[in-house]
Amino acid sequence: SSLPSSKQYAQKDGFRFFMEKEIYEQSDVVSDCMLERVKDETTSFDEINDSILDGINEIKICACGTSYHAGITSSYLFERLSKIKCNVEIASEFRYKQPLLTKDTLFIVISQSGETADTLEVLKMAKKAGLKTLVICNVDNSSMTRLAHYSILTRAGIEKGVASTKAFSTQTVTLWMLALYFANVKKSISNEVMQKELTALREVPNALKIEDKIHEKTRRLSKRYLHGHGFFFIGRDVFYPLALEGALKLKEISYLHAEGYPAGEMKHGPIALADPELFTIALMPQNLLYDKVKSNVEELSARDSTICSISSLDFELSDDFVKIQETNHYMLEFFEMLVVVQLLSMEISIRLGNDVDMPRNLAKSVTVE
Ligand code: G6P
Repeated sequence: SSLPSSKQYAQKDGFRFFMEKEIYEQSDVVSDCMLERVKDETTSFDEINDSILDGINEIKICACGTSYHAGITSSYLFERLSKIKCNVEIASEFRYKQPLLTKDTLFIVISQSGETADTLEVLKMAKKAGLKTLVICNVDNSSMTRLAHYSILTRAGIEKGVASTKAFSTQTVTLWMLALYFANVKKSISNEVMQKELTALREVPNALKIEDKIHEKTRRLSKRYLHGHGFFFIGRDVFYPLALEGALKLKEISYLHAEGYPAGEMKHGPIALADPELFTIALMPQNLLYDKVKSNVEELSARDSTICSISSLDFELSDDFVKIQETNHYMLEFFEMLVVVQLLSMEISIRLGNDVDMPRNLAKSVTVE
């Protein structure tokens, strides 16, 4: 393949790939995403007002790929903070299941491009059934923003890498802000909890700043991990969709087999695969269910799986360890770990000599079924 032109180099600002540039941009774009939306007492959006929840008893989310993972993450936040029933489905499944659509449901679609065929179709179905529809999108004036009743833009800027990075972090932050906005409308959490959430939210750009030693650590790990034949990313709660996202990144750009799994579900089958050739990437947040995840990882370690833990706490049974900074909110750990799994898959992909930005067989936006 030919060398990139000097113009292309310039656009990458010295980074080797757009994906790398976009991973590093996350801290800044997330700040943009939060601008004027995080207030002293709550969050707010120019695009919506309190009446959006009139007559609403539940939330249904549909999306594809990485956007689906942002959706699962937010479902924990909508239930925990907004106290609204929430479930999430893959758009291509929802589309043909003859779903029951009831008007007390707020229908949310999530899409970086606003053009994904399956997601667009379910949005049309929901609108036709008379539901209130909202799109979380990165592209203004896209098919979805034109169609939905309400649109909230994620302000990530243009994302060039086929494997999504900054689109995901801005989607997740947007959905977290939305969960808090709903919590304020419904008065579903105390002022104290709200303040704690807002303080954490303001810290997200910091959590997304990348320390050299973290990047260097993933680069060193990639030397051995590129030989892995099977990877399990495991986590609980919001770290389960993060595990799915970590595994998807590795598949997309490194072409290595990886699965994301709920840590507590490993014993129901997958643990049978455990041996030294199985690499387990364990997401072990200090602030959420630490002991529960720890005992799941111990079970894998006892069966000789190779363990790489990502945590702010040392875990003596790990073969490898990426130490993130200690924080006091699990969502900050979420974003710190996100960067680690993104960098790890990118470094493995680079070492394998793959085209990180244009992985084989994939398209940035899938506009046909
Ligand atoms: C493609 C891309 C993914 C993306 C998915 C959904 O498969 O390669 O990175 O997550 O589409 O795209 P959307 O634009 O709807 O978020």
